[in-house]
Amino acid sequence: MGSKIFSNILILLLLDGESLVTHGAAMTKKITAYKNRIFQGDCAEAMNALPEGCVDMVFADPPYNLQLEGDLLRPNNSKVDAVDNDWDQFDSFAAYDAFTENWLKGVRHALKPDGTVWVIGSYHNIFRVGRIMQDMGFWILNDVVWLKTNPMPNFRGRRFTNAHETMLWCSRDQKSKYRFNYEAMKNLNDDLQMRSDWTMPLCTGKERLKGADGAKAHPTQKPEGLLHRVIMSSTEVGDVVLDPFFGTGTTGAVAKKLKRTYVGMEQDEEYVRIARERISKVRPVNDPMLVDTPSKRTQPRIPFGWLVERGMVEAGSTLYDPRRRHAARVRADGTLMSGDFRGSIHQTGAHVQKADACNGWQYWCVEKKGKLIPIDVLRQQLRTQLH
Ligand SMILES: C[S@@+](CC[C@H](N)C(=O)[O-])C[C@H]1O[C@@H](n2cnc3c(N)ncnc32)[C@H](O)[C@@H]1O
Repeated sequence: MGSKIFSNILILLLLDGESLVTHGAAMTKKITAYKNRIFQGDCAEAMNALPEGCVDMVFADPPYNLQLEGDLLRPNNSKVDAVDNDWDQFDSFAAYDAFTENWLKGVRHALKPDGTVWVIGSYHNIFRVGRIMQDMGFWILNDVVWLKTNPMPNFRGRRFTNAHETMLWCSRDQKSKYRFNYEAMKNLNDDLQMRSDWTMPLCTGKERLKGADGAKAHPTQKPEGLLHRVIMSSTEVGDVVLDPFFGTGTTGAVAKKLKRTYVGMEQDEEYVRIARERISKVRPVNDPMLVDTPSKRTQPRIPFGWLVERGMVEAGSTLYDPRRRHAARVRADGTLMSGDFRGSIHQTGAHVQKADACNGWQYWCVEKKGKLIPIDVLRQQLRTQLH
């Protein structure tokens, strides 16, 4: 069984190559220096040794418990490079459930009350993991489906091609005030709301780490694109991102690039070495402004009236919708008038369109030198002037 192979040994590998090994009782001591470090050993033990509530987000890619029986062969009898490692072997579903509950207890200990956790898995394990997470009090926010553009075929032709994995995104508790970078996700998606189905290829080509023999360094290395979206969606610059099943360190590499702080845990010494070498080569984006998208909700509120008071939009001038189908006059008190109707920029926008609601900032435009400019652009200018 996967969890049996660990002794109570923890090796702390520092990025500069220094190693610190602690045994037995020392493991029960709290770890205080954990930022940008990789711990070799059992992740549950290591997470419980961290200070309580020190982590903003967890990304976990646990063993799948694939339950493979014998070699998987292609039609030409060549062996498929499947996940048959010791760390993926469990005696029974009950053993897998006990393992899952144990590491998730470590996550609950290390995670901040408002933190979130992502767990990726396949049909072999994700339903068991989801049930255990709900029973432990985690609150499922989304199940995101990673649709693989280049999945492994079903060689025996007896089932559908298994072309996706599922990521459960959960807050620590139902009432957690968790972070979701809505605007960053919308920006990444050409200004459309990001959906819960993500289409991306498996990790291949130059990104795939290989050993000296040319074979894959790790059977389940995840694509950096997947971690990019995960980290951009649910953390901010400087946040602590923990990956308890670090493997080749994909989470650490992307976290470092995006100026987040990583903490990795991995039981296998060789994987730890590979991850350490990989992360040491990553150059972070040099300016924090380039890797952060401030939420509109956290930006200071600018009422439309402030634009009128400052003459950025003249009282008495006319606003138009982007296609000039509707017009409204600006009143000195920061409301708009269209026919007999008077109301805020939002109410008037909804009224002229006969709609239930309208975002007036994006709907109304001022005319400058024959061009229509959304009033949202003027609001942004004022925001910059004021802060
Ligand atoms: C599915 S792989 C993760 C791959 C990783 N996401 C990547 O991109 O390289 C799971 C990893 O968890 C490690 N592992 C399994 N059980 C563990 C445990 N109890 N504590 C720490 N690491 C463990 C395995 O050695 C394996 O590298």
